[in-house]
Amino acid sequence: MSDLLHIAVSPMGDHSISRAVDGAFVEAFKARHANAEIITHDLAIESIPHLDGEAIGAGYTPEDARSVSAAAKHNYRLGLIKEVNEAKHILVSTPMWNFSVPSVLKAWIDQIIIPGAVAVTGKVTVIISQGGSYAPGAPRAGWDWESGFMKQLFESIGATDVEVIVSEFGLAGIAPGLEAFVDNKAASIAAAKTAAAARASL
Ligand SMILES: Cc1cc2nc3c(=O)[nH]c(=O)nc-3n(C[C@H](O)[C@H](O)[C@H](O)COP(=O)(O)O)c2cc1C
Repeated sequence: MSDLLHIAVSPMGDHSISRAVDGAFVEAFKARHANAEIITHDLAIESIPHLDGEAIGAGYTPEDARSVSAAAKHNYRLGLIKEVNEAKHILVSTPMWNFSVPSVLKAWIDQIIIPGAVAVTGKVTVIISQGGSYAPGAPRAGWDWESGFMKQLFESIGATDVEVIVSEFGLAGIAPGLEAFVDNKAASIAAAKTAAAARASL
């Protein structure tokens, strides 16, 4: 049982926008919940294995017929699932990479989804940092395959209270062509931090 299960994804350390926004969340969460029990998986450090055939097969094999290796892989999944099921609040912070989630996050997602075993009972907050903007009217409006995916994914495993907080224009001032959006970037990050802190204070 944890008050907060925190999955952090960005490998960019102090330069990460999604981690700066999740910092605002965690700070407010700790202020709201004294002595909160927090489980953190930093996927930039911790390597989550890709789901393989042995792990998948273990789910279809009676417990007493599993090999030692298959049992270990299945039990690893059940351990991650227990954290998900028992968390009062799940926080995922992640970059957008190639219009979707980084593969390390997808590896965690694939590990935790065993139909019938995973069942989210707490709130879910997903913090996403995008390099550009996919808002209505933007040249690539509709190319965001991450925020809707993350919401739908958690709802598919039982979550009824999912909030996705997006900051835009993370590459403004870094990548050429986005110079005009530096102010939008600062405003978007500030708004995301405010939304994250408000969500954590509920
Ligand atoms: C490998 C890679 C792929 C990226 N793909 C996209 C993309 O498809 N769309 C986008 O808006 N930004 C993209 N970006 C930019 C990041 O989303 C942006 O820099 C964001 O701030 C990263 O989050 P972070 O600062 O928490 O690491 C990409 C960055 C990297 C390194």
